[in-house]
Amino acid sequence: MEYSDQVLLEQAKQAREHAYAPYSGFAVGAALLCEDGSVYLGCNVENASFSPTCCAERAAVFSAISNGKRDFRAIAVIGGKKGEEGSFCPPCGVCRQVLSEFCALDFPVILSDPTGAPVRHTLGELLPGRFTLSNEKS
Ligand code: THU
Repeated sequence: MEYSDQVLLEQAKQAREHAYAPYSGFAVGAALLCEDGSVYLGCNVENASFSPTCCAERAAVFSAISNGKRDFRAIAVIGGKKGEEGSFCPPCGVCRQVLSEFCALDFPVILSDPTGAPVRHTLGELLPGRFTLSNEKS
């Protein structure tokens, strides 16, 4: 299947339907496109103890990694109040750092504009000055 930003955002929207967010009431979905064309989905999963909560983006990355995938082409993310249309939802800092473990600075992060249209950003734009393994070696 040939992927467009629109299709990937649509898949993120579908993943968002599964969000478990009884505490924040904010539902997020992510769709991670791998080099081989497979797509791994993620939604946020909250917890009564709060800190174990996992964001949608990390859920998607960890699922892909758990299935042997490490090369990624793009991620789409969409979020918003439960029961409302999803919209612009920039990945949190922790998720940016997790993406940076596996993705280059030009990695596309596809977000939604207020009308629902996909807008491309890059990981480098979202996480300048990232910490990587190379920093430990210098
Ligand atoms: N959330 C995500 O899933 N991804 C983000 O990048 C931002 C925040 C989730 C975490 C929490 O369940 C809810 O949104 C409110 O912060």
